[in-house]
Amino acid sequence: MASKIAIIPGDGIGPEVMKQALKVLEALKSDYTLDVDYDVFDWSSDYYLKHGRMLPEDGLEKLKNYDAILFGAIGDSRVPDDVTVWELIMPIRKTFEQYVNFRPVKQLKGITSPLADSHSGEIDFVILRENSEGEYSNSGGLMFHGQEKEMAIQNSIFTKAGIKNIAEFAFEYARKHHYSKVTSATKSNAITHTMKFWDKEVGKIAESHRDIDYEKVYVDALAAKFVQQPEEFQVVLASNLFGDILSDLGSAVAGGLGISPSANINPSGEYPSMFEPVHGSAPDIAGQGRANPIAQVWSLALLLEHIGRNDLHDHILKAIEKLLLDKTQVTNDIGGSASTEEAGDALVKILRES
Ligand code: NAI
Ligand code: MG
Repeated sequence: MASKIAIIPGDGIGPEVMKQALKVLEALKSDYTLDVDYDVFDWSSDYYLKHGRMLPEDGLEKLKNYDAILFGAIGDSRVPDDVTVWELIMPIRKTFEQYVNFRPVKQLKGITSPLADSHSGEIDFVILRENSEGEYSNSGGLMFHGQEKEMAIQNSIFTKAGIKNIAEFAFEYARKHHYSKVTSATKSNAITHTMKFWDKEVGKIAESHRDIDYEKVYVDALAAKFVQQPEEFQVVLASNLFGDILSDLGSAVAGGLGISPSANINPSGEYPSMFEPVHGSAPDIAGQGRANPIAQVWSLALLLEHIGRNDLHDHILKAIEKLLLDKTQVTNDIGGSASTEEAGDALVKILRES
């Protein structure tokens, strides 16, 4: 039976890079007996301006019927960023219990970056970020409004089940992919309730995975180490906020936002998982044909791996590495001269030839 994929291109460069990913998908469908059907949804800031909401009332119900979601990016100056995020991305992540955010940090062959090139070892690790609770809770509020002592409170909510779920996923992921170490980001020296709890609960899971080394590192020191010794990491486990920041840093270390993919995974498989580039809608370059499609195409590769086509994941990554060898085939953000369309077409050509 065909797998069903929901496509949400979004705003800004989202639709531009999604177009290239769909070209890749079409090529794979015709050349590699890839049995997928997809539907495109126009949920975006334009949709919001027309309908007063980011997605229709039964939008989430509709998405439930899909095996996976491929997302572009959202964000538009005409709609506040917290509206686009809390009304579209967050409901998808939360409703579909996508409590794992997975981001590979891998320096592809052909990517030159001053940071990456200053290291002799291979940069190839993954960040597993708790994606459903923690610091991104929306609980709190303003107090003493308008008074001298006015203040804002934002609560972090860490549950035993939430920490256990992401920690178990991290250690099991390490085992399955032959990694020998999990590094947990913490800040229990300064954040004394939630982060001590995090350490305690992660520690328990580490105890039951004695075959995998476990270290906890303060997140500030960890950020420095990402820059100075990125080749030392294997699996990095982090809370929602720490993981968010570390993954953008990881992406910068490995070559930039234009090439960095991510996955929001529902490990039980009960609901669809969602795959999206790390980058946003990049309004500064939208409409100019300058967006790098690699992050979106790599996200598609992660989606295909998730629905059981590891072969096509590997095939796409090899094709991206081939693409990177010729600067006339890649976009300006990674030192090339190609437009978004040219890069997409070149990638499809490589896929078809190999
Ligand atoms: P951004 O990721 O959109 O852009 C940051 C910088 O990276 C810009 O200079 C941009 O031109 C460049 N860049 C990003 N993707 C690129 C690509 N594929 N090729 C070449 N260059 C690329 O982040 P920013 O500027 O903080 O946010 C812009 C909008 O995107 C905001 O509205 C924000 O809320 C939204 N956003 C949405 C996300 C999502 O949809 N998941 C994630 C991050 C931001
Ligand atoms: Mg981010």
